[in-house]
Amino acid sequence: MQAYDFLVLGSGSAGLSFALEAAKFGSVCIVTKKNSAESNTNYAQGGIASVLDAADSFEKHVHDTLVAGAGMCDPEVVAEVVRRGPETIRKLIALGAEFTQKEGGLHLVREGGHSHHRIIHADDMTGREIERVLLENADSHPGITILEHHFAMELITEHHMGQKVTRYTENNQCYGAYVLNLQTSKVERILSKTTLLATGGAGQVYQHTTNPPIATGDGVAMAYRAKARVSNMEFIQFHPTSLYHPDANSFLISEAVRGHGAKLRNKAGEAFMAQYDKREELAPRDIVARAIDDQLKKRGDDFVYLDIRSAGKEDLQKNFPNIYKECLRHGMDMSQDLIPIVPAAHYMCGGVWTDIHGQTTIKGLFAAGEVACTGLHGANRLASNSLLEALVVADNAVLKAKEFAKNQEINAAVPEWDDSGTVNTEEWVLISHNHRELQQIMWDYVGIVRSNLRLERAFRRTRLLHEEVESFYQRTKVSEPLCQLRNMISVAYLIIRSAMNRKESRGLHYTTDYPHLNDKVEHHTIL
Ligand code: FAD
Ligand code: SIN
Repeated sequence: MQAYDFLVLGSGSAGLSFALEAAKFGSVCIVTKKNSAESNTNYAQGGIASVLDAADSFEKHVHDTLVAGAGMCDPEVVAEVVRRGPETIRKLIALGAEFTQKEGGLHLVREGGHSHHRIIHADDMTGREIERVLLENADSHPGITILEHHFAMELITEHHMGQKVTRYTENNQCYGAYVLNLQTSKVERILSKTTLLATGGAGQVYQHTTNPPIATGDGVAMAYRAKARVSNMEFIQFHPTSLYHPDANSFLISEAVRGHGAKLRNKAGEAFMAQYDKREELAPRDIVARAIDDQLKKRGDDFVYLDIRSAGKEDLQKNFPNIYKECLRHGMDMSQDLIPIVPAAHYMCGGVWTDIHGQTTIKGLFAAGEVACTGLHGANRLASNSLLEALVVADNAVLKAKEFAKNQEINAAVPEWDDSGTVNTEEWVLISHNHRELQQIMWDYVGIVRSNLRLERAFRRTRLLHEEVESFYQRTKVSEPLCQLRNMISVAYLIIRSAMNRKESRGLHYTTDYPHLNDKVEHHTIL
């Protein structure tokens, strides 16, 4: 029997930082579906927002976060996360993180929606540095077991103990997870006193995304099936500037490049942001993404340009070494060429509902990072607030998880996974086709600009996909692609239903049928 005090699903910033802290109080197992470093965290570019400049203040960072969140942030959560910024940065540095320095201190940059220079970064590869340092510490910790190539399939709850569970069941408790060992293709039962969901976001639900392939929304889908509360799923953030190139896979061109003075130009060479917002290129990213979308639709173009030719080659190579190199690999020198860009799905603001301690509505189940909806981001996330949130909430979650674990026994009565009646199949084209179809539906109908007609069409199409995949799932031995597709369809359903419920435009949710904010609309979408 595999049993631990703390089971952690996911090895990004949230999972690893929780594991390091929790290991002070008991045994920890981290389950991760690819190599440990493969995560959204690893690709984060811009940095972590924190108030570190004497001329900046917590009040200003709070204000900027609340403005971006369009009336839907929880002010107490915002105040707490912002206040914890400096100590979180110090903790990373103590673990060994090396951030970019200037004149003996940390170099702070500015991004869209921020009123001050407050982004701490490691060149343009901040996530790689954070992932490196957390992983090195976790790898060498004797109390932490890391299971790579293990795919978390289902949370174990009262449902598996034979009880009928609804979203209103008060004593629903999590006892661990059923996990598919991708090397043996066997489903393992991993039991735990507490479980942390840290499985990240769901960008892969869309055809164009800055997220790596791991971001298939598994955590939200598992939690929803386990009857946890899920909220605000309509708020999907589209990053305005991903590289438009057939081989670039929506590579992100960091917001920090606009912070460094880049202009957006349409194909005719006209700078257009002043028509949309007085903050121009430094407006929050929902405004910039919609402005680009508007230009593309009005002009019938496939992309717009990002122009940073005002900065010299040396400056760009120094400040954006990774982005510079990637553009060059695709034949573009940022100091001389205009860079073709388009918006792409980037961040899931909604997710599994939690409080500031990562507590979900299921006992013993915690969530932190992108999978969680804590109330920090509201209807739109301010750039570089998510890494900070992941680290702060993961830390907080340990406080409650260790208390909870103290009074729990491992539930050895949990049954083994039962796959009787299922067979191996050769029909993998059914999965790959449905996968592509889902991404296309979501991109075309549930993207930056929505309407009733588009959402209804998306709903009908995904319901059909759901029926097909559920029937396939019931008959077939489980596999990672099948489980991921099933999860992606669930997440798509949650996004569409939440978007249909919101009869107004707010933050990241914009619909042509209700183009204005409506204060009478109940604020949070709870599913
Ligand atoms: P992740 O880092 O995504 O980790 C999730 C983990 O869960 C992975 O290890 C994954 O393999 C694992 N996993 C998923 N499903 C399963 C499963 N079923 N079973 C087992 N394991 C599973 N935010 C900022 O604040 N600043 C930035 O500069 C920034 N830049 C970004 C740039 C890019 C290109 C992207 C994609 C995102 C960026 N973000 C940025 C957002 C930020 O990186 C993420 O929100 C954050 O890293 C999420 O951390 P996490 O620990 O919640 O999830
Ligand atoms: C970026 O570097 O533009 C990404 C920042 C973020 O998503 O917070």
